[in-house]
Amino acid sequence: MGDEIMVWQDLCVHRGTRLSLGHVGGGQLHCGYHGWTYSSSGECVRIPAHPEQRPPPKARVKAYHAKVGYGLIWASLGDPAAGLPPFPEWDDPSYRKISCGPFAYNAGAPRAVENFLDVGHFPFVHEGLLGDPGHAQIEDYDVESTPDGILATGVRVWQPDPDGSGVGRYVNYIYGVRRPFTAYFSKSSDGETYMIQLNVTPVDELRCIAWMTIGMNYGFDVPEDELRAFQEKIVGQDIPVVESQRPERLPLDLQAELHLRSDRIAVAYRKWIKQAGLSFGTS
Ligand code: FES
Ligand code: FE
Repeated sequence: MGDEIMVWQDLCVHRGTRLSLGHVGGGQLHCGYHGWTYSSSGECVRIPAHPEQRPPPKARVKAYHAKVGYGLIWASLGDPAAGLPPFPEWDDPSYRKISCGPFAYNAGAPRAVENFLDVGHFPFVHEGLLGDPGHAQIEDYDVESTPDGILATGVRVWQPDPDGSGVGRYVNYIYGVRRPFTAYFSKSSDGETYMIQLNVTPVDELRCIAWMTIGMNYGFDVPEDELRAFQEKIVGQDIPVVESQRPERLPLDLQAELHLRSDRIAVAYRKWIKQAGLSFGTS
């Protein structure tokens, strides 16, 4: 899945100029300042001021494995252990897709993902939209965890406005985790499904950028901007809460915070990333 592309580090080794100011041509990257030319593997192959001179071996930039997929560019800092995460609705024409974001969080990626998976906050953070304090009780639901991911099913919630249409209803959620920083939910009622796949790019341990793709098998006549504005409003309500959380690094020791039955997805997520050996953004 995904077409291979080339991605290089963004600083020229000659004078530290941003290489993104230059251009790519013939599979090579040309710096915009003095025209040093880098091959796809990152070595400098030409210095225009001295075309007869062989560039020194030290003149090289880092090149990364990267792919295009789901309307995004995916780069791996090392050798990727797996391909792109699955996203079945992306190739399913019965779903329209709307890309949202990027959303910048002054918070770590694990905190942002856990918030996306959180069921209990709807009536308080998204009152009048995704939740209603009069319906705050969470019924039990199932969570399955395998090495490939987490799946929570049977999460039934009353939502005053599940999709921006303003029509309240009970929806049945499925939540899934496909990679440490890739999660999704789908919520359905009467054959209509609204889903979001979330991908979070860590900037560093305490900052991240979230990319969300909405998939809907209904509402084809609703303008994209309206659907995007609804999601921007929801995320705008989540960000201050997530940024306020302390410790900033998600505690993987389950004794460190209090957990309820309704937090089963979050507990599964913490255990799963611990098992996967993820320490980045966690404590
Ligand atoms: Fe890139 Fe000089 S700074 S070629
Ligand atoms: Fe939220």
